[in-house]
Amino acid sequence: MDKVVRVGLLGFGTVGTGVVRVLTENASLIAQRAGTAIAIKKILVRDPNKKRALSTTAELTTDPASVIRDPEIDIVAELLGGEEPARTLMLEALNQGKHVVTANKDVMAKYGRELFEAAEKNNVNLLFEASVGGGIPIIRPLKRCLAANRISEVMGIVNGTTNYMLDKMTSEGMDFATVLAEAQAKGYAEADPTADVGGLDAARKIAILASIAFGTRVRLDDVSAEGITKIEPEDIDYGRELGYVIKLLAIAQETDKGVNARVHPAFIPLTHPLAAVRDAFNAIFIRGDAVGDAMFYGRGAGSLPTASAVCADIMEAARDIAHHSSSHILCTCFEEKRISPISETESPYYIRLLAEDKPGVMAAIAGAVGAQQVSLNSVIQKRRVGTRAEIVLITYKVKDEDLQLAVQTLSGLSVVNKVSTVIRVVGVDAE
Ligand code: NAP
Ligand code: HSE
Repeated sequence: MDKVVRVGLLGFGTVGTGVVRVLTENASLIAQRAGTAIAIKKILVRDPNKKRALSTTAELTTDPASVIRDPEIDIVAELLGGEEPARTLMLEALNQGKHVVTANKDVMAKYGRELFEAAEKNNVNLLFEASVGGGIPIIRPLKRCLAANRISEVMGIVNGTTNYMLDKMTSEGMDFATVLAEAQAKGYAEADPTADVGGLDAARKIAILASIAFGTRVRLDDVSAEGITKIEPEDIDYGRELGYVIKLLAIAQETDKGVNARVHPAFIPLTHPLAAVRDAFNAIFIRGDAVGDAMFYGRGAGSLPTASAVCADIMEAARDIAHHSSSHILCTCFEEKRISPISETESPYYIRLLAEDKPGVMAAIAGAVGAQQVSLNSVIQKRRVGTRAEIVLITYKVKDEDLQLAVQTLSGLSVVNKVSTVIRVVGVDAE
């Protein structure tokens, strides 16, 4: 094997280190399977004097141009994170005729079209398997293995940090701040973890998946995103009593109203397959008209799992270079479909509130929600908080816009002190 395909890495952090490790430790099997040896020539970093978790023979540089303009480098793997300078460097690399591999959902969700156009123009590949689901193969299965299906739903857990946090908060009663610090220490969280806990990271991922699954551009702004910051230990406890567990779900569906995409915490029954997704694992269901239901499960974050996906993308590009072939599937958004807002979606809801503890309160609450076409499946009153009663309502399936009006009406009742939490219930047949 005389040909060596040379790679320039942009970034030597959690994922970059994993990529160097995998490409080094598995070099001979990777060369066999790719049909060419693959070597990392240069790595862009911010601070070349920083102590690294791994030593490398590659040259560390702070000059991006020396990587993306190096004529010996055929593939640029962007592992910096954030929008800039990642987007500009990827565009420049594509325009320099380099194949680009990225783990960056921030850029792919927002600037995917522009990057695909640059890749198309320069007849190079743009691969982003690691941008969704860490080590789980999901982009390539959607673009290739399931390509003959009309997909109606993509649903799952796509953020490892929040799944890890919710799991620890549920199983060990850990508090939010402590468990977030743990997720950061394990390398799961983004540089700015507010994107994880606020639902934005999952929103970026579902925008990418929905665009591919439904063949239409689903923009980040089209995704309604709510994170886990409002979840309180009381909700976890009530969930347990009711036979539910809380997960941060990303859901995209195509219905006769159009395509909707959303991220929100949800109660799911303990018997639901997603309830068994623990730690930083991710799982994604796909429903297709030919395949039926398919589920993808694995490690959604972390150095080596993410490196697994990045290295496979590097190998795909290297194979094309070695064989002078071009197996690209670039942009697959062939249609413009209507975006159906979250207000049009339906589900049962859990509502926890504090109210006066006196006769007539329950009737006032039932009347207030009933006036907005919301009917109650069950009402639980267990705890007193000071002089007030904590009440949990579970509704039947209701349209989101009616539920929001019901919550407004409840909040306006003189006997209601506070509506504490509102959480959708997913995966039950309550009508
Ligand atoms: P990270 O640990 O923060 O590493 C970022 C690396 O990029 C560091 O080596 C840093 O240099 C370098 N860097 C950042 N900005 C730079 C700049 N302006 N100029 C030069 N170098 C710069 O991030 P990560 O966790 O590896 O994530 C990388 C990407 O993978 C992100 O897009 C992330 O969303 C995605 N991703 C991460 C995971 C995960 O589990 N961590 C999973 C899937 C996808 P220094 O080392 O000198 O500071
Ligand atoms: N911060 C992300 C997560 C990394 O926790 O899922 C993987 O994309």
